[in-house]
Order: sequence, then C-alpha cells, then structure tokens
Amino acid sequence: MSDGVDSHGGGISAGGSGVACGGEASGTAAEGGADGRRSFLGRLLMAVGLVTGYGYFVTLALRFLYPRNGSSRRWQFLATLSDFPSGTQREFRSPVGHRVLVTRISDAADASSFLALSDVCPHLGCRVHWEPQNNRFFCPCHNGVFDPSGKATAGPPADAGQSLFRYPIRVEGELVLIEVPVEDVRGRTA
Ligand code: FES
Repeated sequence: MSDGVDSHGGGISAGGSGVACGGEASGTAAEGGADGRRSFLGRLLMAVGLVTGYGYFVTLALRFLYPRNGSSRRWQFLATLSDFPSGTQREFRSPVGHRVLVTRISDAADASSFLALSDVCPHLGCRVHWEPQNNRFFCPCHNGVFDPSGKATAGPPADAGQSLFRYPIRVEGELVLIEVPVEDVRGRTA
C-alpha cells in the first residue's frame, strides 16, 4: 500500500515535476517570443534606416545628374566687356559656392571669347588650378592635366574621358552673364 502511495506520490511528484517542466517550457516559449519580437523590431528598424539612407543618396544622385531646369539655374552678372580684357582671368563664385575660373581668350564681343570652367576635378572632386607656365590646369591629387579649354590630356581624367565642366556665358551689349546653379545637390537654394 505504502508502495502504492509512494508510487502514487511518485506519480504526483512526477506530475509536479511535469507541471514544473511545463512552466519552464512556457517560460522559455515566452522568452523566445520576446526575443523574436525584439529581433523582428531590430530588423524592421534596420530596414527603415537602410531605405531612408539609400533613398536620400538616390535623391542626391538624381538631383546631381538631372538638375531641375528653370528654378535651379539663373543668369548672373559677371563683368562688363571693358572691365574684362582679353588674356585675363578671374575667379567667380556662384551663389551656392561653386568656384568658376573665367578666362577671356579673345577680343570678340560675344560669348565665344569667354571660357568659364569649374575648378572641380571630374575624377574625384579635388580642386584644379591654372599653371600659366605650363599653359594647363593641373589637379595635384592624381596628376590630372587639362588643356586651356578644360579637356583632360593626362592622368585618370584623360583615361576616363572626363573634362572640366564648362559654364554657359552670354553677352548682352556690354554685360557678360554667366549661368550658374542656385540650388546645390541637396536642394538648398542660395
Ligand atoms: S581627383 Fe583630380 S586627378 Fe584624381
């Protein structure tokens, strides 16, 4: 009898143990569920971050490649013809801070006598400078060389067929005008 009780007790004990095991199992399942939710939320936040980050950079890239016409560029006064003699060069800064090197290459009283080039190297964006002794623009970052018209003649820009960006110039009577961006690639206006 006592064996039976013991045995029964053992059964109860075993059942208790079973109940205890069931409690651990459900605790583990609950923790597993919490972990799963945390990892899902983590992945969701990471995905949102990636989409936001990539979206921003894609927007910048598209705006750089396809700038909005009309509102994003405007003609700006540069100089008068008489104040800008042939053979001289001057530096102009656009409303959004782009540096432009403008050279008057002839006495003609029209736009063909002006050359307005960006000083940003098309290779990786370093600043180029004019070397009068060599009659060329030079980029010190990777020895990029450009002729006076901005065409790359040596270094990585020449290998890639990249030239300095040329800004449009217009002459109206005595006035020399240059067309420049008024909105940078981040969409900020001057
Ligand atoms: S950045 Fe000008 S040559 Fe590389």
